[in-house]
Amino acid sequence: MSAGQPQASHDGTAAAAAVRVAEVGKVFPTKSGEVVALTGVDLEVAAGEFVSLIGPSGCGKSTLLRLIADLDEASSGALEIFGKPARRARLDQDYGIAFQQAGLLPWRTVAANISLPLELNGIGKTARAARVAELAELVGLTEFIGHYPDQLSGGMQQRVAIARALATSPRLLLMDEPFGALDEMTREHLQSELSRIAAETGAAVVFVTHSIPEAVFLSDRVVVMSPRPGRITEVIETALGASRGEELREAPEYYERVTAVREALHGTRLERANER
Ligand SMILES: Nc1ncnc2c1ncn2[C@@H]1O[C@H](COP(=O)(O)OP(=O)(O)O)[C@@H](O)[C@H]1O
Ligand SMILES: [Mg+2]
Repeated sequence: MSAGQPQASHDGTAAAAAVRVAEVGKVFPTKSGEVVALTGVDLEVAAGEFVSLIGPSGCGKSTLLRLIADLDEASSGALEIFGKPARRARLDQDYGIAFQQAGLLPWRTVAANISLPLELNGIGKTARAARVAELAELVGLTEFIGHYPDQLSGGMQQRVAIARALATSPRLLLMDEPFGALDEMTREHLQSELSRIAAETGAAVVFVTHSIPEAVFLSDRVVVMSPRPGRITEVIETALGASRGEELREAPEYYERVTAVREALHGTRLERANER
């Protein structure tokens, strides 16, 4: 391979973008007519990049994430995950998913919940136990490994969900408002944890949120969306560096980016005010 050429891994996909969305549209037929959930969506997420999708309810954030995850199909346009069709990427388990509801199995311990994707992959018992221990440590739950979900706080349940999503070491994490149901303190704490975990694992993340500070704190880029029809209206580069310590929350450049995202969302808010 000559110099300057992208390095290909054994499966030839290392150099591919984590996510490539080109001219994607999604229309839902409903009884009262068609809902254009997404139109003309172009988005590329680099390997290892953290990108948030933000915008008012109904702007198509979840729909876009579901298309990337192959949980639904685009009406038009093309999607690629690590250079593969979304379906292939799903079958290859190229990504982990975490939603607002942790979705843990109540009859399984923390360890057994985290272990589930490994079991489904036929990983042997010894290797599973070692990986579960590593993941529990990563999300700070080592002491709770034998607990059941109903013995955990909401924040701890979300940690389990994140550990489970990371179990097979995916290069991409898809998260839809994973901290949406948590109190503000827990939320900030988990944001810091997620930032560290994303950096440590090198996984790319596509993260849906309603929260401007959350999007800015976590992301390399914040994608601002607008409804009716759902589309991307602006993309803001945060350029806040790799280290996302608590001190960042009080830094002037952090406030500047928060303001920039708020202003980008502002057009949307005015439109909504005018509709009333
Ligand atoms: N399965 C569906 N059937 C019909 N309409 C849908 C469906 N899923 C989403 N929508 C519509 O698509 C638009 C975008 O929804 P969604 O992606 O959930 O927005 P967000 O996550 O940004 O709040 C909304 O108008 C929503 O009502
Ligand atoms: Mg949603």
